[in-house]
Amino acid sequence: MQILGGTASNGIDIGLARELDADLDKIETTRFPDGEIKVRLPDIKSDKVVIVQSTQYPQEKNLFELLLAADAIKDSKAQITAVIPYLAYARQNKSFYTGEAVSISTIMSLLKSTGIKSLVTVNPHRSGPLMNFGGKIEVIRAEMSLAQSVKDSLARPMVLAPDIVGVELSKNAAQILGCEFTYLDKNRDAYGNVSIKQEHGGDFAGKDVIIFDDIISSGSTIELAARHAYSMGAASVSAAGIHLIMVGEAAEKLKNAGVQRIFGTNTVPYEKAQITDVSKDIAEGIRRLAREIS
Ligand code: R5P
Repeated sequence: MQILGGTASNGIDIGLARELDADLDKIETTRFPDGEIKVRLPDIKSDKVVIVQSTQYPQEKNLFELLLAADAIKDSKAQITAVIPYLAYARQNKSFYTGEAVSISTIMSLLKSTGIKSLVTVNPHRSGPLMNFGGKIEVIRAEMSLAQSVKDSLARPMVLAPDIVGVELSKNAAQILGCEFTYLDKNRDAYGNVSIKQEHGGDFAGKDVIIFDDIISSGSTIELAARHAYSMGAASVSAAGIHLIMVGEAAEKLKNAGVQRIFGTNTVPYEKAQITDVSKDIAEGIRRLAREIS
């Protein structure tokens, strides 16, 4: 097996090569004078190639690099697996308003067209829309590893899911932490403002509440949940996001809401958090895929 690290592999390519005892090479990406991307592959030495490229900001550049690389490998006849730790464009999984393009569907079609046979990704926003890909898909759930790594940081933990999407993830995390779990039902309006539609109880008094979510982007969801936890008597609030996108004022919002610590994974680079490496989880997913294929 040969691992090919893209420019947005976030070190996961190195972790995978170590875990899977595979060769590691880098994809070379430069730009033409007009700004177009030029990708050059190393020698393809194996009939099983794993491209590692996350698709955080700048999403289009990172996605396009991956598509160009996969398409170029196609000629070598190697079987291609794409590891996309953070899968961009997955949140637009339906037309919320008439005429909106369903971006995840387009991305899946593009990936398939380049000859990628299997896809490994970490906590996509929803798994259902990925099925358009058509090939094998391995969805990694990183919340267990993330919860394991926060275990020693919280004296009296309690897990809060800030919305329905985060319920399964948060329940899994609460199981690892051996603590109570509750959730909120969130509403987001057309302008992106969030509010609590419904709360579902929970004994917050004196607890070290940790809010688990798949993505922390603008920070509005965590801000809302953190303020709720404190209003219910929490002693401290931390936030754990699988993908720390952290756009604009997100860090500021969390700080102002009293979030004391941020935990995340290396699917997206973010320096101001305690980061858990998900390479082992992804390597396990690649092994599962290999067993299915053989
Ligand atoms: C939404 O359903 C997701 O699970 C996250 O809660 C959301 O993407 C977080 O976004 P933001 O940080 O912008 O509120």
